Amino acid sequence: MADGTDFWPNHDHWSVKIPLQTPHRRLPVLAETGFVALSPMPIEIPREEWESLEYMDWKSGGDTNFAPLASADGELDCRGFWDKGKTDKGALWTVNAEKAPTLRRYVDSVGANFGRVRIIKLEPQDHATALRSIHRDDNNRFNPDDEGWVVRSWVELTDQPNSYMLLMDNDADGLPDPSTERRVPLPKGARFVVDTQRLWHVVVHNSDRPRYALITSFESSPRLGEWIDSQRAVSV
Ligand SMILES: [Fe+2]
Repeated sequence: MADGTDFWPNHDHWSVKIPLQTPHRRLPVLAETGFVALSPMPIEIPREEWESLEYMDWKSGGDTNFAPLASADGELDCRGFWDKGKTDKGALWTVNAEKAPTLRRYVDSVGANFGRVRIIKLEPQDHATALRSIHRDDNNRFNPDDEGWVVRSWVELTDQPNSYMLLMDNDADGLPDPSTERRVPLPKGARFVVDTQRLWHVVVHNSDRPRYALITSFESSPRLGEWIDSQRAVSV
């Protein structure tokens, strides 16, 4: 919380400059909160599919490493698609995908245009540490205005029930609004879709082991909306 001791973003934070309002086609299901929970992962993923991959040193949201499964050009590269003049969609599978056939089939089964597909490996970090890395993503750079808004989906591969993704919407000044805070628990198989260009986000990882998750960028489209509807968590 913004109690004067922990870090809190101000107007100089790089995320504040990332556009919020644009004409891109968006999904109605994300309109209200920017977040939608899906049902737990219906497929068992063999551990080798994330443990045997080649990870790159790439810091985002803490002490992280990433294994790209699909990238802008199929190379093992963590850089944003915009470094290659490309929007974060229309990705090509990398050699890592050959070692992760179940994950690849899962992403393909969505049937929507996808961009970066990566496994994140996140080392433990407490709330105060994580907060220093809270940010919004620049998912839609170079995305033509008449195409779909790029959002991200998660599948938790390891069981981290004490960890959570911290999400916050914007206040009137474009800074994180604590009154909108949501904590998404990260047990094995947890799945959700987040408009990460809109919501400030970071993972608080209360554990002594790394957390692994599948992160996929998807272009908002009628097909993605249908898929989300078919996978939504049943509220009890
Ligand atoms: Fe992010």
